Formats: sequence, structure tokens, C-alpha cells
Amino acid sequence: MKMFIDCDPGVDDSVAILFALNRPEVEIVGISTSTGNVSAVQGAENTLRILKLAGMEGKIPVCAGAEKPLVGEVDGFPDFIHGKNGMGDVELPAAEQKAVDMDVCDFMYQKACEYEGELVLVSLGRMTNLANTLAKYPDYAKKIKRVVSMGGTIYSHGNVSPVVEANIGGDPEAADIAMMADWDMTLVGLDVTLKTHLTRSDVDKLLRCCLPEKKEMVSFISEELKYYMDGSRRQNYTMEYSPLHDPLAMVVAVDPSVVNTRKMVTRVECGGTWCRGKVVVDLREQPIEGRFVEHALEVDSRKALNILFAAFQN
Ligand code: BDR
Ligand code: CA
Repeated sequence: MKMFIDCDPGVDDSVAILFALNRPEVEIVGISTSTGNVSAVQGAENTLRILKLAGMEGKIPVCAGAEKPLVGEVDGFPDFIHGKNGMGDVELPAAEQKAVDMDVCDFMYQKACEYEGELVLVSLGRMTNLANTLAKYPDYAKKIKRVVSMGGTIYSHGNVSPVVEANIGGDPEAADIAMMADWDMTLVGLDVTLKTHLTRSDVDKLLRCCLPEKKEMVSFISEELKYYMDGSRRQNYTMEYSPLHDPLAMVVAVDPSVVNTRKMVTRVECGGTWCRGKVVVDLREQPIEGRFVEHALEVDSRKALNILFAAFQN
């Protein structure tokens, strides 16, 4: 499977990337970043260090993208959950590899043309880069095989407002453009990610059972998750686990059988205060103008976790 990742690493983004790097059937052909958990430049720096850790330095091009959402400005970073550096304040050694010096839209389009009809686009952050590329290259969507995106919530509560999830809420206009694009899109949102619980004992067990050659990667995951899990507890004092967002979306990209989905006409609310960034689905017979997007609504979370862990054990 040829894969392109757009992300904002981010503790959970980095776990998702490391998982994909350890799946033999996945070939990552490019990674782009946008502002979100950290700045796009910091996200690209983090990605390069993650690639080095995985022994993939110089093998996958990385490009820093949008530093601002389509509308408005960046309103701080969620360092209480991802740390100041976006990796739970764990410092990985710097890489020699540099980010490509290219406009991110050109980079994304170039990869889509190179692997036309084959590319699975995994979106783990705001959809700003996707929207900008769709605007610059109207045939971009047609070249992509399918899109799997961590974003949104239909029935669950939100995580940045009562009803809004962070990736969509961070750039609602971009997400609405992505929903309207002519591609096959699956949203893996809080309805399923909040039900997929990672516990400290899961991580400790993985540390004990992983393959020796993967130990360094798992140790890094274990360290950065300490901060992330504390962050979950800072948000909700009773929480004994961390919800798994981006890694679950990545597992779905590799094995869609872990979720049940439903296709619904979908738009994103771009106005309002509490609802700005809410994913809106219309089940009426004569719905609002919108395209069918597939939403993950149920998850076999044990199976998803097993798939995630197996990548470091086999
Ligand atoms: C999403 O927001 C970011 O903080 C995470 O990396 C994930 O992509 C969860 O709402
Ligand atoms: Ca993310």
C-alpha cells in the first residue's frame, strides 16, 4: 500500500507514523505537516527525528506546510498534552535529513501524480494542506485512492468544545472543503477514538514483549506517552487510560475491518461559537448540499490495539 501522511506530530501522530513504518505492506512515499499540536516547521523537525529513530532517515521526503488555518490565526498550542516540543518533551537526536524546500501543495500533488490512483492519504491533523492543494490543483482529489482522516465526532462529545473535535475545529473551512472534494473519504473520529483506551500496563507489556530491534522505538513511545497520559489525566482526573486518536486512524487505514462505518452526507459548520467546527451529517431524504463521507461509528478496540502492538512484536 502506497501511503502519504499529512500530520502535526504530536505524540499520537508519532505513534501512528511509527506503526505505519513497522507494517511491511505500507510504503510511505511522503509526509507533510501543518500547524496544530505544534508549528508545521516543528512538526516536520519531529517527523525527521522519528524517521531517524526508525532507521528510515533519507528514505521518505518530509515537507512543512501551512502555518495558519484558512481563516484566522493560530491560537496557541496544546502543550499540556503534547509537550512543548510536540513529543511529550522527549528529545530525540536530530536528523541529518532536512525537510524538502518546496511548496507543500506542489509536494502533495507531485506525489499524487507519481502514484496516481494508488495513494492512500492519511490525514492526522488539520486539513489545511489538503484544502490548499485541492484549491491549487482541482484534479488532486481524483488522483487519490482514498482518504482516511482522524477527525470529527458525530454522537460523542467534542474535545475542544462540547461538540467539536480538535483537527476539524482547528480549521473548519479547510475541513469543509475536504468533505466536498470528489474522493472516497473515511473519518475516524471521537465516536471510536474515545472508546479505544490505551493503558499504562498495555505500554509496559509492549516494552517487555517487543522485538529487540524495535525496542528503541517502543521505549520512545513509552516515554512520550507518559506525558500524554498525564495530560489526559490533567483534562479528566478520573482517567486511567489515554484515548487513542491518530494511531486508530492509521490502523483503520491499514485494516478497515476494525470499525463499522456509515456513509452520510457531511458538511462542517463554519459559523457559531460552540458549534464552529462541528461535523454535520444530514440523514434526511432531501439533504443539504454535500457529499457522502464514511464515518467510523463502532470499533473493535481490542482488535485495533492488538494490530497496533503486533507491528512492534512481529
Ligand atoms: C487530534 O487532535 C490532535 O491533538 C491529535 O494529534 C489528534 O490528531 C485528536 O482530536
Ligand atoms: Ca494529530
